[in-house]
Amino acid sequence: MGSIPNGLFSSLPEVEKDEVFALIGQFRSDKHPDRVNLGVGVYFSDEGKSRPLEVVGKVEKSMHEQHDVTRHDYIPIEGDDRFLSAARDLVFSPSFPTPLKEQKADPRIVSVQTISGTGANHVGARFLADHLKPRCVWVSDPTWANHHVIWESVGVPPRTYPYYNKSNCTLDFSGMMDVLERESQPGDAILLHACAHNPTGLDPTREQWIAIADLCHRKRLFPFLDNAYQGFASGDPVQDSWAIRYFHQYQPPMEMCVAQSFSKSFGLYGQRAGAFHLVLNDTSANTKDNVLGNLAQLIRGEYSVAPRYGSTIVRTILESESLSNEWSAELQLMSSRIRSMRLALYEELCRLGTPGSWIGMFSYTGLTPAEVEVLKKQYHIYLLASGRASIAGLNSHNVKYVAAAISAVRAKSHLN
Ligand SMILES: Cc1ncc(COP(=O)(O)O)c(C=O)c1O
Repeated sequence: MGSIPNGLFSSLPEVEKDEVFALIGQFRSDKHPDRVNLGVGVYFSDEGKSRPLEVVGKVEKSMHEQHDVTRHDYIPIEGDDRFLSAARDLVFSPSFPTPLKEQKADPRIVSVQTISGTGANHVGARFLADHLKPRCVWVSDPTWANHHVIWESVGVPPRTYPYYNKSNCTLDFSGMMDVLERESQPGDAILLHACAHNPTGLDPTREQWIAIADLCHRKRLFPFLDNAYQGFASGDPVQDSWAIRYFHQYQPPMEMCVAQSFSKSFGLYGQRAGAFHLVLNDTSANTKDNVLGNLAQLIRGEYSVAPRYGSTIVRTILESESLSNEWSAELQLMSSRIRSMRLALYEELCRLGTPGSWIGMFSYTGLTPAEVEVLKKQYHIYLLASGRASIAGLNSHNVKYVAAAISAVRAKSHLN
């Protein structure tokens, strides 16, 4: 038998595995009883379990009982109208839940349904790459690693603005503004996390948001707000979408867009419910139709239509005032459990006199990659190499164990 020639794909560039999903795999194969997953941004109960939201379970039950024969049909390319108007309201309306009869569609907004928040980021990036043609996109340093992947994949190079002050674990607002002021150019896009910044957990204050919006207006930057954690920063979805509404209502009007995810806020991670909203200045029917047509063509070529199961659940909840209130209460519960765990970890680390600066710590621990590796190997605690810990993986049973492990690892590196 002759030798088999090299295949066409034998010399592809090697790429690193996605860190979050690689950690999930490692965690699953670690059978140690004390293992702790602080890697993935998924909410776990105090028993350390995944659990659908009760309101979601209730809606699913009623959906199954209805035996709707159209339940597996395609939705339109742009998405389910009712879902989109409820989704839009959740980000742009100052009151929640908005009674149905009071909902007014804003003629400036064009919305399409996407494959969750990642899909919304991608559709938005692709659309802007094709039609705005920004020289670059400004992203925070650090940011969600996928922002780099998404923008590079559409041919728009990401550039970073400072965001995190390592020395005191605070937002480096002046560093951010200085770089953007000096180096950004009209027509550049700028990616901003609407709330609960991933990975630092540090958000600008309202005064700082106002200054960011002024800068975007003055320097003619295109704001792209990524809204993946609405309700997780404060527990209140209206408060958490304040920055989006501020940009939306800015005078003189500014064009901008929002990528919206329902993965975390409704616990619908694998169902891929999301939306992309583009706010226009020209609201003529012709322009809106054209924009929607272009977005629809892009979607058709990429995934044809979005999935309907998760979006039907979201729509059913948001269209009902009482279900919306139930959802808000669960959101409150999830965000307050995370807050109390963060505090418990912080207090335990201070009690143990752990070297390091734990003040203002959110999900960014400041642990070094070497310390993170020891935590994984010796203590079966999994977090990102950057030191980002998903506090939702802590619970009343493991918080002391995690604090003691961090403390031991820190003490050892300070001795070395
Ligand atoms: C900042 C940010 N944007 C968007 C997403 C998108 O998530 P999904 O595609 O699951 O909705 C995430 C998820 O981790 C995120 O952290």
